[in-house]
Amino acid sequence: MRERELGACGKTRPGDSGPDRHWCMCPRKAAGPARTRETGLVSLTATASLRPSVLFPPRTESPFVGSFLESRVLCGCQDSEDLSLLLLFLRRYGMFFICWNEFILQPIYNMLTGDRKERRILRYVLQHAVAGDPQSVMETIDAYCSQKEWAMNVGDKKGQIVDAVVREQQPSVLLELGAYCGYSAVRMARLLPPSARLLTIEFNPDFAAITQQMLDFAGLQDRVTVVVGASQDVIPQLKKKYDVDTLDMIFLDHWKDRYLPDTLLLEECGLLRKGTVLLADNVIFPGAPEFLAYVRGSSRFECTHFSSYLEYSQVVDGLEKAVYMGPGSPAQP
Ligand SMILES: C[S@@+](CC[C@H](N)C(=O)[O-])C[C@H]1O[C@@H](n2cnc3c(N)ncnc32)[C@H](O)[C@@H]1O
Repeated sequence: MRERELGACGKTRPGDSGPDRHWCMCPRKAAGPARTRETGLVSLTATASLRPSVLFPPRTESPFVGSFLESRVLCGCQDSEDLSLLLLFLRRYGMFFICWNEFILQPIYNMLTGDRKERRILRYVLQHAVAGDPQSVMETIDAYCSQKEWAMNVGDKKGQIVDAVVREQQPSVLLELGAYCGYSAVRMARLLPPSARLLTIEFNPDFAAITQQMLDFAGLQDRVTVVVGASQDVIPQLKKKYDVDTLDMIFLDHWKDRYLPDTLLLEECGLLRKGTVLLADNVIFPGAPEFLAYVRGSSRFECTHFSSYLEYSQVVDGLEKAVYMGPGSPAQP
């Protein structure tokens, strides 16, 4: 049995109401819905015999094609060829959304301001947020990135899922892979007790410097260490150089093709213990199919999917929570 969770996506079947009314494009061949307390998500229990299309749900969705798909699925028109074409288009829409923001809008802003987006985000925070108030820092970044320029922070919707997992786990040692401007570092560090620590690894020195300034401004610098370097180089140094025994939680949010090799590296370096929680962002969009297939297919991990939306958009995305069950689990793949 595998526990899967559906997001409070707001989509409903016409006429449905009550706690099991949520319905979205994430895996849904399941029964027995129950709302989780902290995230407001709907949890569904699915059988282990998941079909590939269920394991790898559609990656993207635009508001307009989403309603077309709903009407087709609801009326039972599931012609596989039609659906494949549609899913291809949906995926492309997500890519179009990112490309439009990153390669059209951003260079125009860069030219106009003579600066990079990440510096503009930091400047906006320094000008508009309240120093020493992490909540205000997060809200200011969210306001900027939803109203002015899209950026690849985990964002508020998925951020609430991250919050719920951090609150549930109460990690003493938390590792983040991919800091960018420090949004998720601020988000997670604000929930940690002063004795806990977050290590965040970022290989772009400009982004690492912005993250450090963001944390300083939010007043969280004592709980967080920003490590400049590539995850694959830093992970093997965590024990000796950063005095880490094992990790309680890991937030994977760097380049998606690194999710699987870094998971294997973390295990190889003895940094995982029974109960270590891996929380991986963007497993639907842009997607981390090798990682998903590995953790979902391995008896060493217990997986839960949280369906949501790509930051500051209506593109379907999700987080995967994979709890490490220890190396001794039987029937390893
Ligand atoms: C999606 S952004 C992180 C967003 C951030 N976690 C947040 O939600 O605010 C991904 C970041 O990972 C960094 N990155 C990608 N691959 C990396 C690697 N192998 N090691 C360290 N950093 C990496 C990129 O430079 C980028 O800043």
